[in-house]
Amino acid sequence: MKRTSRIFTEEISENFYLMRIDDKETLFFESLWYIPEGITYNAYLMLTDGGNILFDAWKHAYSEQFIETLKNIVDARDIDYIVIHHTEPDHSGSLPKLLEENGFKAEIIGNPLSKTMLENFYNIKLKFKPVKDGDSMIIGGKKLVFIHTPWLHWPETMMTYIPEDKILLSGDAFGGFSTPNAIHDSDEQLVSEYIPFARKYFATIIGHYRPYVLKAIDKVAKLGIGIELIAPLHGILWRRDPNKIIEYYVKWAKAEPEKGKVIVIYSSMYGSCEEAVKVAVDELSRLGYNPIIFKFTDREQDPLSDVLGELIDAEAIILASATYEAGIFPTISHLLNIVSHKLRSNKHVLILSSYGWGGVAGRKMSETLSNAGFNIVDTIEFRGRLSKEDRERIVESVRKLIEQLSS
Ligand code: FEO
Repeated sequence: MKRTSRIFTEEISENFYLMRIDDKETLFFESLWYIPEGITYNAYLMLTDGGNILFDAWKHAYSEQFIETLKNIVDARDIDYIVIHHTEPDHSGSLPKLLEENGFKAEIIGNPLSKTMLENFYNIKLKFKPVKDGDSMIIGGKKLVFIHTPWLHWPETMMTYIPEDKILLSGDAFGGFSTPNAIHDSDEQLVSEYIPFARKYFATIIGHYRPYVLKAIDKVAKLGIGIELIAPLHGILWRRDPNKIIEYYVKWAKAEPEKGKVIVIYSSMYGSCEEAVKVAVDELSRLGYNPIIFKFTDREQDPLSDVLGELIDAEAIILASATYEAGIFPTISHLLNIVSHKLRSNKHVLILSSYGWGGVAGRKMSETLSNAGFNIVDTIEFRGRLSKEDRERIVESVRKLIEQLSS
């Protein structure tokens, strides 16, 4: 099938090229996260007198296009080195085709673990040069410094710093979803539209490894290097203000809240929880709050990826779900399982839960979130439709939740 994806090829610094393809075909990244906004795969190419260096590649589905795009700059046979920052197939999938075209001549440079992973993924044998954390190489007068950054987002991940040009090739880190209409952060409007997609990418893909983000940023900071360009494997490059994306990543890694940001998430089979949520939202509105609402009903099912993206910098959460088969309603149970892994934090939570003959979900939701560090302000369980007393309890608990925010 002839693909029609958008491709950007640009010399972003002397003899240093971006090769980006926009993937709008993958609707569920990692077969999990709904991304109608798409994703880019960014590879980079550096031409030097001492050999041509490719940094990463594209997903397997775009192998043919990768070779064609590369040919516009240099023939695949003329690639001498391939630096692998991350072996995940969204970046290494086109490597076998590339190596075939290259005659397996190129030396692969990467974390020692990458050799085994790539050889196992693709059943190939590599000419491989392992590099340790802090190792450097000089190729054609260009120094490359390799920085191991484990768990961003796999154990073998690393970054490369090019001191002469102050370029940091950052791998998955500092990336984001979507296919922006520009390659750089040059336009303020474009950046502000992009940030929510970077946040969603962070929460879904990197979220589980948040402590490692802080370690990696601290490590790079301690090197005392100047960074004039951050070149990630997804999304836009950061040249006008590289610190901006670093600061966002620190904020998200700490799950720092946006003041006053309240998220309401609910499932409702027959309307009881929806009614309770309406009481809570009306009170929030009366108190001057404008919550973001996600629902799982017989009419609408919001994407979990969007929920996670918004949760990471929320200050408070109202969660409502019915008891279902002596447990939490499955969609919410699945969400809480993911939240417990990826978004552990001390955000404030109010839990609302309906039941028909025996309440279980409220207690279980509360236990799950408490164990993940959340502050459960209140858990209100009610039988079927709300009584007058139930409504009063919800209003009172919403006020209690909001008091936490200003304390
Ligand atoms: Fe973009 Fe973890 O791969």
